[in-house]
Amino acid sequence: MNGTSKGACVIGHPIAHSRSPMIHGYWLKQLGLEGHYNREDILPENFALFVRSLREHGYVGCNVTLPHKEAAFQLLDRASPRAQQLQVANTLWFEGDVLCGDNTDVEGFVANLDERAPQWDKNLKKAVVLGAGGAAASIIVGLQERGATDIRLVNRTYEKAEILAKRFGTSVHPTRWTELTDSFDDADILVNTTSLGMKGQAELDVDLDLLPLKTLVTDIVYVPLETGILRQAKQRGNPIADGLGMLLYQAVPGFEHWFGKRPKVTLELRALIEDNIKGLSA
Ligand code: ATR
Repeated sequence: MNGTSKGACVIGHPIAHSRSPMIHGYWLKQLGLEGHYNREDILPENFALFVRSLREHGYVGCNVTLPHKEAAFQLLDRASPRAQQLQVANTLWFEGDVLCGDNTDVEGFVANLDERAPQWDKNLKKAVVLGAGGAAASIIVGLQERGATDIRLVNRTYEKAEILAKRFGTSVHPTRWTELTDSFDDADILVNTTSLGMKGQAELDVDLDLLPLKTLVTDIVYVPLETGILRQAKQRGNPIADGLGMLLYQAVPGFEHWFGKRPKVTLELRALIEDNIKGLSA
């Protein structure tokens, strides 16, 4: 690393399993750019100070992940319209001394589906979203922007679905977990935004028997690549899209801000991360 090499990082807690260094490292190499990208394990109580002194740590910007995305938004001098809409930020950079931030999860979600399930938004009307936690808001916005007019927000804790639904207008209908299969009727897409099905977590216990065969099933969990719900959907003949591309595409704008070139999500990059995930889940 020399004095002119630009640095960026991903800040989270825990952060050891983040694949962001692999992604940005691949792009730096592929584009022949000087630069580095590190993991930074920062406790919530130290987060604000760390971000304020980002440049003293040698960074031109950073990604922010759990549990800091809301705190990151609060620290911004200038938030993108998307970050303002969601009140969370996952990508930070400086313009002069101004700390700027964006939320790139919506872009990541839709770009993944555009790649893995082309035409998925043609005649998109009804969506079923599982979960009302941190990730659900970005998914709802992505679905609305691509034309969904009836979004069933299904959550174990109904009150959380009610609160989230209110933020996004009358097209979002809070739904009890016990009414999940009733919501399947004529659904164009089913999205899991909960962490269930992730390696080390409980399986998502959902019976897809009543789901129309046309319904695209997708998951934001990508470890394992084929989660239980995706396997079940594939076996009965539904189209599926795994969540890895969301991770890859949400990383694109940050790289461009920090290193000055817009990188491409290539099949080679996908294969690299897939191999890493398969190695771990084997
Ligand atoms: P947070 O709410 O802190 O943002 P998250 O991990 O982003 O957390 O969200 C967790 C989501 O998974 C929530 O929708 C949660 O449902 P509750 O709101 O009822 O907690 C959902 N979830 C977690 N464990 C679950 C389970 N065993 N069954 C059903 N849903 C579950």
